[in-house]
Amino acid sequence: MYQTLLTGLENGIFTITINRPDKMNALNKDVINELGAAIDEVYANEAIKTVIITGAGEKAFVAGADISEFSALNKEGGSALAKKGADVVFNKIENCPKPIVAAINGFALGGGCELAMSCHFRLASENAKFGQPEVNLGLIPGYGGTQRLTQLIGKGKAMELMMTGDMIDANEAKSLGLVNHVVALDGLLAKTKEILQKIQLKAPLAVGHVIALVNSATKCTPTGFDEEIERFGACFESEDMIEGTTAFLEKRKPAFKGK
Ligand code: COA
Repeated sequence: MYQTLLTGLENGIFTITINRPDKMNALNKDVINELGAAIDEVYANEAIKTVIITGAGEKAFVAGADISEFSALNKEGGSALAKKGADVVFNKIENCPKPIVAAINGFALGGGCELAMSCHFRLASENAKFGQPEVNLGLIPGYGGTQRLTQLIGKGKAMELMMTGDMIDANEAKSLGLVNHVVALDGLLAKTKEILQKIQLKAPLAVGHVIALVNSATKCTPTGFDEEIERFGACFESEDMIEGTTAFLEKRKPAFKGK
C-alpha cells in the first residue's frame, strides 16, 4: 500500500493518482519513491496493460517538486535529486513498453508538467494550467523539462515559457501540441480510458515498438538531460535560489540579485 498514491487496476488499466491535494500534489521524496515503486509494478505485473497518471482533487495534477524540501540541498544534493527522479521515475515512464498517459486535471507546473511530458501522451481537463515557473524560484527545470518541452513544442515557445515562467491554459497547450485532447474535468478519466481501451485491442508488442521508436526519433541530444541535472544542481549554489524558494514559502515576491 502507498501513503502518497492511490492505485487501482480495472480492465487492464492501472490508474495512479498522486494524492497530496492539500499541497497541490507536490512531488516530495515520498511521492518520488512511491511513484518509482508503482512504475516498477507496471513493468512487473502482467495484468497491467496500460496506465493513467493523474492527480487527486479538482485543482492540481502536480504543482511541481516540493519546494519546502529544497532548503536542505546544496549543489550535489540538487543534482542528486534531479538524477534520482530521472532514474526512478521520469525515464522509466518514458521508456516503459506499456502505454502511460497523463490525465491532467488542474495545475501541471514545474515537475508536474515534466511528469506529464515524460508520459507517452497527454489529455487535459478544461481547467488545466501548464508552466515551468522555476525561474521564479531562482531555479530551472530539473526533471527533463528543458529537453522534453523543447521536443514537444519547439525551441522558440519553449524558450519563452521557461524564461517567463508564464502559465498557459489547456487550449493553448493543445494548440502547441503539449496535450492531445481537452475535455471537461468530469469526463477526463472516461475519455482517457476510452483511448486506452482502444490501444489495448492492438498488438502489445507492436505498441511497445512504437513507443521505443518514437522515443528514438526524438532523442537527438542525450547529453542535454545530463547537462540539465548538472545545471539544476548549480542553481542550489546561488543566493537567488535561496531567495526565490524562501519568498515562495513566505508568500512574498522574490528580490533577485543575479548572484
Ligand atoms: N511545493 C511545496 N508546496 C506547494 C507547492 C510546491 N511546489 N505548490 C503548492 N504548495 C502548497 C502551498 O505552499 C500551500 O501550502 P499551505 O496551505 O501549507 O500554505 C498549498 O500547497 C496550497 O497552495 P497555494 O499556493 O495556497 O494555492 P493557490 O491556489 O493560491 O496557488 C499554485 C496554486 C499552484 C499557483 C501555487 O501553489 C504555486 O505557484 N505553486 C508552486 C508552483 C511552482 O513553482 N512549481 C515549481 C516547483 S520547482
